[in-house]
Amino acid sequence: MEAAGRRGNLDPRARILEVSSPERASIPHTASGVDLRVSIGSIHLKNPIIAASGTFGYGIEFAELVDLNRLGGIVVKGLSAQPMAGSPAPRMCETPSGMINAIGLQNIGVRAFVAEKLPQLRRFDTAVIANVFGHTIAEYVEVIRVLEDTDGVAAYELNVSCPNVERGGMEYGTNPELLAGVVSAARTACKRPMWVKLSPTIGSIGVMANVAETEGADAVVIANTYPALCIDAHTRRSRLGSTTGGLSGAGIKPITVRLVYEAGRVVKIPIIGLGGIESPSDVADYMVAGASAVEVGTAHFVDPRASERLVGGLEAWCRDENLLEINSLRGSLKA
Ligand SMILES: Cc1cc2nc3c(=O)[nH]c(=O)nc-3n(C[C@H](O)[C@H](O)[C@H](O)COP(=O)(O)O)c2cc1C
Repeated sequence: MEAAGRRGNLDPRARILEVSSPERASIPHTASGVDLRVSIGSIHLKNPIIAASGTFGYGIEFAELVDLNRLGGIVVKGLSAQPMAGSPAPRMCETPSGMINAIGLQNIGVRAFVAEKLPQLRRFDTAVIANVFGHTIAEYVEVIRVLEDTDGVAAYELNVSCPNVERGGMEYGTNPELLAGVVSAARTACKRPMWVKLSPTIGSIGVMANVAETEGADAVVIANTYPALCIDAHTRRSRLGSTTGGLSGAGIKPITVRLVYEAGRVVKIPIIGLGGIESPSDVADYMVAGASAVEVGTAHFVDPRASERLVGGLEAWCRDENLLEINSLRGSLKA
C-alpha cells in the first residue's frame, strides 16, 4: 500500500516512553514535560490517540505486538445484538491512497464480547469504547443494555454511518429524524457517555452534529468511511464481493478535516476526528481544525503498531513545536 512509504514520516527520534503501568498512568506529563492528556467530557485520556473501530479487532488480539497501556483508548469492533457473518469475500481492496472495505460488520455479538473479550481487556489501562450497531433502534438499545450491566466500558460509540450493511447503519446517519430517534433511544438506555459516529456523506455535517448534540450525545465522531466502488475493468466486476464499500485512508483526510472544522462551528460537545491519520502532523491537523482527540484506522493495516508509534511521535512533534500542552492545538485554526 502506498501509505507504507509514508510510515517513514514518523519522527525517528520519537522516544518510546515508559508510562505504561496503571500506577504510572496518573503521571500528569510525559517524561519530556509535554502534556498529552485530553478530556472528552467526563472521560480523561492519557493522550488523544484512540484505535478506530474495525481496524484493531477487540484490542486484545494486538496485545502481543502493541503496549495497549500506551493508547489513549481503543474502540472495539462494532457490536451487534446477534453475531453477524459479514459480507461476501473479497472484502478489502487497496486504492492509490487508502483502501475500500466491505466487511459488513462481522462480529461475535455483544454477549460473546462481554463473556470472552471484555474480561481480558479490563487488564489494560486504556479507555475501552464499545462501538454499537443495530439494524433497528431496538437492536441498538439491546446492545447497550447488555453492556450497561458490565464493568470495563468507558463509553459507547453509536455507529450510525456504516455504508456496508443493507439495513440500519447508514440510514440512521443520513436522515436527521432517524438520527434523532436512535440517539434519543440510546441516551435513555444508557448512563455512560455516548459518542455518535457520523457519516461523511450527508448534506450538512453541522445539521447532523447538532441533532446528535440535541438528543444527548456527549461527543461526535467524524467520520466513518466514504461509499466507494473499485472496478476491475478487465473482468468488468467490482473488486469487492458486495460491489460497493467504504473508502478510508490518506485520501479522505483533507475532506474529513473540513467536516471536523464545520461541525466545530456548530456544536459545543467535543469532536473526535478520524480519517487518514498516519503521522503526528495529521493528528495535529485534526486538533487545529477543532478535534479534542483522534482515532486511527487504516494505518493499522500498514503497521499494527501505528497508534502506539503515534503517541511517541506526537510527543516529539510537540517538543519540536515548543508546545507544552497538546490541548492548546484544539480549534486553533487562524483566519
Ligand atoms: C476494515 C475496516 C473495518 C471497519 N469497521 C468499522 C466498524 O465495525 N464500525 C465503525 O464504526 N467503523 C468501522 N470502520 C471505519 C473506521 O473506524 C474509520 O471510521 C474509517 O476507516 C476512517 O478512518 P481511517 O481513514 O483512519 O481508516 C472500519 C474501517 C475499516 C477500514
